[in-house]
Amino acid sequence: MKIKCNYLSRLSLLMLAGIILFGSCNKKEEAFSNRKVSFNSDWSFHLNDSIIDKDTIGTSTKWRTLDLPHDWSIEGKFDEKSPAGYGGGSLTGGSGWYKKTFKISSQDINKTISITFDGVYRNSEIWVNGHYLGKRPNGYISFQYEISPYLNYGEKSNEIIVKVDNSKQPNSRWYSGSGIFRNVWLETTDKLHVAKWGTYITTPKVTAEKASVNFETNIQNQYAASKKAVITTTIFKDETKVTSVTQNITIGANANQTIKQNAEVESPILWSVEKPELYTAVTEISVDDKIVDQYKTNFGIRDFKFDVNKGFILNGKQVKIKGVCMHHDLGALGSAINTRAIERQLEILKEMGVNGIRTSHNPPAPELLDLCDKMGFIVMDEAFDMWEKNKTKYDYGNDWDKWHKQDLIDQLLRDRNHPSIFMWSIGNEIPQQWDESGAVIAKELAAITRQYDKTRPITAAMNPPVNMNIDNVTLQFDKAKVQYNTIAASGALDIIGYNYAHQTYEYHQKNFPGIPFIATETTSALETRGYYDAVSDSIKKWPVRWDLKFTEGNPGNTVSAYDQVQAPWGSTHEATWKIIKKHDFLSGMYIWTGFDYIGEPTPYEWPSVSSYFGIVDLAGFPKDVYYMYQSEWTDKTVLHVYPHWNWKAGQTVDIWAYYNNADEVELFVNGKSAGKRSKKVDDLHVMWKIPFQPGTLKAVSRKNGKTVLEKEIKTAGNPSQLKLTADRSTIKADKNDLSFVTVDILDEKGTLVPNANNEINFSLTGNGKIVGVCSGDPVSHESYKGSKHTALNGKCLVIVQSGDKTGRLELTAKANGLKPATIVITTEE
Ligand code: GAL
Repeated sequence: MKIKCNYLSRLSLLMLAGIILFGSCNKKEEAFSNRKVSFNSDWSFHLNDSIIDKDTIGTSTKWRTLDLPHDWSIEGKFDEKSPAGYGGGSLTGGSGWYKKTFKISSQDINKTISITFDGVYRNSEIWVNGHYLGKRPNGYISFQYEISPYLNYGEKSNEIIVKVDNSKQPNSRWYSGSGIFRNVWLETTDKLHVAKWGTYITTPKVTAEKASVNFETNIQNQYAASKKAVITTTIFKDETKVTSVTQNITIGANANQTIKQNAEVESPILWSVEKPELYTAVTEISVDDKIVDQYKTNFGIRDFKFDVNKGFILNGKQVKIKGVCMHHDLGALGSAINTRAIERQLEILKEMGVNGIRTSHNPPAPELLDLCDKMGFIVMDEAFDMWEKNKTKYDYGNDWDKWHKQDLIDQLLRDRNHPSIFMWSIGNEIPQQWDESGAVIAKELAAITRQYDKTRPITAAMNPPVNMNIDNVTLQFDKAKVQYNTIAASGALDIIGYNYAHQTYEYHQKNFPGIPFIATETTSALETRGYYDAVSDSIKKWPVRWDLKFTEGNPGNTVSAYDQVQAPWGSTHEATWKIIKKHDFLSGMYIWTGFDYIGEPTPYEWPSVSSYFGIVDLAGFPKDVYYMYQSEWTDKTVLHVYPHWNWKAGQTVDIWAYYNNADEVELFVNGKSAGKRSKKVDDLHVMWKIPFQPGTLKAVSRKNGKTVLEKEIKTAGNPSQLKLTADRSTIKADKNDLSFVTVDILDEKGTLVPNANNEINFSLTGNGKIVGVCSGDPVSHESYKGSKHTALNGKCLVIVQSGDKTGRLELTAKANGLKPATIVITTEE
């Protein structure tokens, strides 16, 4: 049997009113396709702190219609006095209301109907037809309510109201966003069905010949009578049936039952980072030969361990984890998730050679995990940034006692089938690591985690449990200090994970014999894309020493893009990678961070509003060090030379080059050799000091005397024209898909002007809209939601979203005194 009706493509065919399925699939597929439909469209939204009562909200007229996911904070103005603080991106929270009216077909009167929220930031409270469903304080957790008992069926409408309260600030160390910022789903099933997150698929034995696949399926019977049913689990590979197992059950009235099944897959096609092969399990429940429920779970077959000597072993092969930490915001789109925007981030990271993602410091949108499954990333799925001790005044620490158990269980149940997840992290830099409660809570969380998933190791992103004085580095393990870090000493962890202190990693085996290591968070280097005020004669303006003040920085809150600047607790990019690279027993690292994110603009405060840590800026433009990693982490042949070639005459400029697959690089200035350079052992770049003269800088990499690559950087003239380049010029007409369009400011001859900061105005015709503008400048206070933006160092990004009609979108960019540019984006079915 093949799954003929693609589940996701069917979603677009489904109209919510009546939840009627259009199309001509047979009954089996109908149960399958009808199960989960998007509930994102046509909501009304009202932002108003003064309305605090559900009963008066209905009388308000100030509603605005929108589709979810939605983040209202990103629409606001940056404000120095924002209670969220610069940590929160100087944007505002507040409290917001969402409502939606909808009809449910009378045919569904005997069904179980549930609503699932993938994440609402924060303190959601929900009513359906006046019936209170409940509250969830945690903004990142997915949750579901059954609503069938409170619904009207047929012609009479229903109303859902969601209150979101993000008014108490600060409650986050980074930009959280506010609102129903993830997807919402309506699920309709028979009263006999696979329960919420009801499948658990593990592969306890994997060899090249055979994989044993275990299924634990939680079946829920909401009928008032017991039911005899047949449970069939079928494994598909690329829509082709592989094998299936069947079991007869009798399930009591109003009861849940967990069914255990086992199947064997011959010659399994293993999931790996390079080839992330997925299988699909389809669970079918049949009663009297009629399929009453179908439930789909993607999974992967892979074998892995963390080894004390060899690090991370995947399918028998050592794999170094070359990971990055990511916060959940999507730059100009804020925290409103969009699958294509996440996919683009992952594509850019994959291109750099990244193979791991840490979901710092909370459960991510499910779409991120689906993409990591499909694209091949090694995910560390993290639960919490704090336990009961707060990091900010109104954060989740206040909800800890009541909610942590439920939130952790929900994360585990939701996420445990994802083949991309290889580790659970029970917390980041938890303050209780320094008191006795750290051990108690770590053990409690580890026990819960093991109860729901024994297949993955548990770690925590601790502060260094080793004794280290940065000025006078003491690298060795200090028993007293380890005992003092109560999480490290608790025995709860399977992997010792800690953030920073890269100087101590080499001593790990001595410090923690018999337990593997992961660098849960590293580096925290800082750069402004395209800014290079660190040439030889004014080197390193921003302090690289930990004991100098942040405020002694560069003008305009810039940070040099040479890899020389780091937070006091971190390192340059090169320093940490050199150590991780050297030792097999170091499984790998997650760099802080892959992309810049909104908020936490270390080293600066206001007027900076977004971070400097990213290897890629907020707009998605790589900073130079991206290519250092690319030269180390990929097989691509790389030659990247920087900075630009627009300086004052006679100024001495540091030229850096990252290269690979070559044994030397020669630099030419206006055709004249400025010397050859070769990396010595341990070097990750080469450099020259060159007095500037306008013209052309050319680098040539060679292997055995033969040219491998050539790169030219030309002195640019004045800004003269704009150029638009779309990452995809054909997108889907589904009101969701995005085209990311880069604007380059060029001189007359077409050379990028590296310091151009013109204001650019955008206009769009056709059935679509501009949903974000961003230059990657951490100091910009222009709205990400406007239709104009000031470029940073020659570049700007505009994000175009399709409507629901196919056709042509025409995007035009204009700037005073410059030749405008237009690009066409086609939208299709
Ligand atoms: C770490 C923390 C991260 C981020 C980072 C900045 O200590 O875990 O969330 O704040 O510092 O360097």
